[in-house]
Amino acid sequence: MATVACTSTDEPGTGTGTKEVEVFTWWADGGEKAGLTGLETVFGTECKDFKFVNGAVAGGAGSNAKQVLASRLQQGTPPDTFQAHAGAELSDYINDDQIEDLSAQYGEWGLSNAFPKGLIDNLTVDGKIYSVPANIHRANVLWGNKTVLAKAGITKDATTLEGFFADLDKLKAAGVATPLALGKDWTQQMLFEALLISKLGPEKFNALWNGTGDWAGADMTAAITDYKKLLTYTNSDRDTFDWTDAEKMLMDGKAAYQLMGDWEAADLDAKGFKDYSYSVFPGNGNVFQWLADSFVLPKGAKNADGTKCWLKTVGSAAGQAEFNKKKGSIPARTDVPADGFPAYQQAAMNDWKTAVQVPSCPHGSACAQTWQGAVGSAQGKFSTDGDVAALQAALASAAAEFGPKAK
Ligand code: GAL
Repeated sequence: MATVACTSTDEPGTGTGTKEVEVFTWWADGGEKAGLTGLETVFGTECKDFKFVNGAVAGGAGSNAKQVLASRLQQGTPPDTFQAHAGAELSDYINDDQIEDLSAQYGEWGLSNAFPKGLIDNLTVDGKIYSVPANIHRANVLWGNKTVLAKAGITKDATTLEGFFADLDKLKAAGVATPLALGKDWTQQMLFEALLISKLGPEKFNALWNGTGDWAGADMTAAITDYKKLLTYTNSDRDTFDWTDAEKMLMDGKAAYQLMGDWEAADLDAKGFKDYSYSVFPGNGNVFQWLADSFVLPKGAKNADGTKCWLKTVGSAAGQAEFNKKKGSIPARTDVPADGFPAYQQAAMNDWKTAVQVPSCPHGSACAQTWQGAVGSAQGKFSTDGDVAALQAALASAAAEFGPKAK
């Protein structure tokens, strides 16, 4: 076990008097909370001078937490650390001058070679590294209820979109009213992105986010048309559901499938549901749609020393093992042994080594928060009106207004 010894310099007259480290996340329940508790445990051993304070605000993908955080940052009352996604989302905080450069700590803690170079690039702006990654999650995973699938005669998940539509029809014919469980805005973005990867392939999908792609083309129209069809297999009350409500439909056997990131593996495990299958979304092949949770040191944090001990814990092999075993993700560090990880994560670790990587907009690796907000509203409107041309126009104008070309 790597040691993460930290001491407080918070002596009378030199510090702010606090030993507390407020850790702000949206990991409030189930597998997400279990992962956070894993990190808290290592922090408790390695950072004895400090006290963990849980600042979690519930709501999948930070749907509530991000607003609370934005207003705290604006008011100058940041938590001691908060969770931020690697990539464009992190750049938002860097550009707004809200977080500290951690390059010196990378040197001091030996982190520079601990993570894949591509990931470090996503945490770096102008040569400075701004956060410590905790994990790699995969977004494009299809979860299934094995019993419901078997009853409809489906013993193997489809590997093409056509095959998937055929299976969804089989499920309907077998009396499953809602073959595919779905939730609100950001979960719809995820389903749409998985379908886009199948329809466009990884190069064109990546191009959409780096400013060289075409949101207005005929292939996008065809993808949105297929997405409209896909929505007919989902629950009509989707816009009121968080991802865990859709997950409950799967667990209760009311739905056969759900597209969701691999925090679902941890959550199903935490809830004791064992009857699940998983596969990459049909047609995605060996594409690994990645995202990474990372932690930062906000400017003006009350207990910077405590935060540093937290960040050192997050970046340590011991911290990454305890966290990721419970969280459904895989360690961002390349030197954490696979032993002791659940079967799902062992499979994901293998896939990660050879996969084609693409980022995710709703989980910050592909797009800034302003862009994500615009896509989310367009998607929400489409969920109600099903207007293909309107969605395509809205996506194209969101890319023009908030994408890399707008800068
Ligand atoms: C993502 C986050 C994951 C998981 C998920 C659902 O944005 O990266 O760790 O928490 O939201 O809430």
